Amino acid sequence: MSDTQERERIQKLIARAGLASRREAERWIEQGRVKVNGKIASLGDKAALHLDRIEVHGRPLAGAECKCYVMLNKPMGYVTTAHDPQGRPTVFDLVDKIPERLFSIGRLDLNTEGLLLLTNDGELAHTLLHPSYAIPKTYRVKISGDPDPKTCTALERGVELEDGITAPAQVARIRKSKRNTWFDLSITEGRNRQVRRMCESLGCSVSMLKRIRFGTLELDGLPVGQYRHLSPMELQALQRMR
Ligand code: URA
Repeated sequence: MSDTQERERIQKLIARAGLASRREAERWIEQGRVKVNGKIASLGDKAALHLDRIEVHGRPLAGAECKCYVMLNKPMGYVTTAHDPQGRPTVFDLVDKIPERLFSIGRLDLNTEGLLLLTNDGELAHTLLHPSYAIPKTYRVKISGDPDPKTCTALERGVELEDGITAPAQVARIRKSKRNTWFDLSITEGRNRQVRRMCESLGCSVSMLKRIRFGTLELDGLPVGQYRHLSPMELQALQRMR
């Protein structure tokens, strides 16, 4: 069944959830009290409970599982845990307007910035993190100096770390200044501090690390510290990676 075929008029979904009659639901839509994926809905709009996030009077549509998928551009200095014993800011402070209880799909270090997915969909999180799916994650890395070709080849082939040799990766050189080099490193594993450890083991010191891609998702122009809900197409592409 295609995306459009699966979607129904929003007033029908609200009525089915037992919140109001269809007529009443239509009035709510006209009054701007219904949102779909964060945008005020218009009469005639269609949605599906498993594809879209529907809010009525600011609350997720009850009676249905309201799954939430958010892309955050994590700033440096934020922890990825829900609470920090040292009182540092957490990424969940940045999404505190979202009523669902979210968790992150994987983690980024305190000083890493970039694409972090937050959701309440445990099943999708579990599969995206499972090593057998080998979801590629791309990091923009800034190092001091200019890595020699041998370093790049080593990163691509695999690096011996204390928890074993890393899986093959991809390196793309982005730019170079007098003092620094920027390159994109795509890895399919998700070990603790993996990119920093790979670079350090080859004698390169990482001065900036930012995740720019996660599977089919790209950070694009999302400003640091901001988040957005995934579009239905983005979600489907991600689900198809399973
Ligand atoms: N690799 C790292 O070294 N740090 C991160 O935050 C993510 C990947």
